[in-house]
Amino acid sequence: MKDYKALIQQYELDVYPRRDVVLVKGKDSRVWDDQGKEYIDLASGISVANVGHCNEKVVEAISKQAGTLITCANTFYNDAKAIFLEKLFSVAPKNLTRAFLTNSGTEAVEAAIKFARSNTKKTKFISAMKGFHGRTYGALSATYKKEYRDIFEPLVPGFSFVPYNNFEKLAEAADDQTAGIILELVQGEGGINIGQKEYFQQVRELCNEKGIMLIIDEIQTGFCRTGTMFAIEQYGIEADMMTVAKSIAGGFPMGALLCSDKIQIEKGKHGSTFGGNPLACAAGTASIDYMIDNKLWKQAEAKGKYFKEKLSAHQLSKVREIRVIGLMIGIELKDKSQPVIVELLEKGILSLPAGTTVLRLLPPLTISYEDLDKAVAVLAEVLA
Ligand SMILES: Cc1ncc(COP(=O)(O)O)c(C=O)c1O
Repeated sequence: MKDYKALIQQYELDVYPRRDVVLVKGKDSRVWDDQGKEYIDLASGISVANVGHCNEKVVEAISKQAGTLITCANTFYNDAKAIFLEKLFSVAPKNLTRAFLTNSGTEAVEAAIKFARSNTKKTKFISAMKGFHGRTYGALSATYKKEYRDIFEPLVPGFSFVPYNNFEKLAEAADDQTAGIILELVQGEGGINIGQKEYFQQVRELCNEKGIMLIIDEIQTGFCRTGTMFAIEQYGIEADMMTVAKSIAGGFPMGALLCSDKIQIEKGKHGSTFGGNPLACAAGTASIDYMIDNKLWKQAEAKGKYFKEKLSAHQLSKVREIRVIGLMIGIELKDKSQPVIVELLEKGILSLPAGTTVLRLLPPLTISYEDLDKAVAVLAEVLA
């Protein structure tokens, strides 16, 4: 057997902090390494495998499309794309009416920044401390963490950061040059910080008053993760633009920027070779169909509640707080999360960090109650 770890260490640029495991197979909420060891996946490729690993409907759709038409330039119409767009807008917030299709989350954010600037003729943006929006230059400029930004500066000018869930500070930062406000409804990477409804309603009003585009980033929260198809449904507001990606296509790389009628863009001013390609669209249609057919948002809500109840019943001396919305779980620890993540891995559980002290759990929404029970038992042992 080849030494996969050594090959990756030799040939791939070393940008990712890695766990000591080579994953080779996945099914539903389980994954396997190259030694045949089985794991319960509470990471889902960072909220990508919402419909489970190798979901049968998604596998079938990709296989069928791969034998029909893999690529199609965006200058031609395409059946898979038409069907996908109709499906996407059958579940999207009703005020969002058109999409720009991308291959990733950061590209969707990038498009939102460009469209906010071109539509408002203004250049400034406000985003939140601890917010994460991606790694390309525009998205990185809206991303807070200094370690992600420092060696790449200067970034795009005009971006500023305000404390999350603090309307006064945000209102103070907004001026007549502000083109857009970019926010997550639940900060994922920043520590599973849940946005307050009243805060977002005030932000919406401010945007209306000042002609600012409200850009809601649902890249991590979208597609049933928080207990509704999109988290925005729980906030009683409308976004001018909304970014989605990650779980949109069952694990196939895809993203989208959903726009309200306010957003207009001239032909030829933006584009992508692969964005909305037939394979991604076929996977996306199958994935959204599966979510609808299985009411996946309801499963997320019920399983998140169940998990919190079960875990909270244990004595967890390492834990400060458990924050849960749907199946988006943040366990705030009293100390660093890294040793806990390593111990969980040894015991057959994949988990994620969010900042230095938060353990982030984003299981496939299809996870069985049996696997949740097993995961809780291991977590209780490790966090005791
Ligand atoms: C909220 C949010 N926005 C943007 C991104 C960037 O998405 P991608 O990694 O697909 O570029 C992420 C990825 O983790 C995210 O969680």
